[in-house]
Amino acid sequence: TYVVTDNCIRCKYTDCVEVCPVDCFYEGENFLAINPDECIDCGVCEPECPAEAIKPDTEPGLDKWLTLNAEYAAIWPNITIKRDPMPEAKEMDGVSGKLDLYFS
Ligand code: SF4
Ligand code: F3S
Repeated sequence: TYVVTDNCIRCKYTDCVEVCPVDCFYEGENFLAINPDECIDCGVCEPECPAEAIKPDTEPGLDKWLTLNAEYAAIWPNITIKRDPMPEAKEMDGVSGKLDLYFS
């Protein structure tokens, strides 16, 4: 599966949702999550994210993100249509440690 990681938080560009062939993105207030049970590993969303926040879970160190994606995809609503990024997206792009600072 692919997972959404730290740099999506408070950016939420949403370019990813429109390209997913199985519509497996779910939207929270500050972050998007991929449902790992629905993702077919096609990889088309990865290059679409301007924040480079989407990664294959085969990359090392992403266990925490896989858990978070699964947990939140189960409770958040599905999103398939692109919206405006968060107003602070540009300033927040690249800020480190967003999970601890801003996740809600
Ligand atoms: Fe959707 Fe493919 Fe991205 Fe998985 S890898 S979330 S199926 S676009
Ligand atoms: Fe987030 Fe990137 Fe999608 S910032 S909403 S994963 S395009």
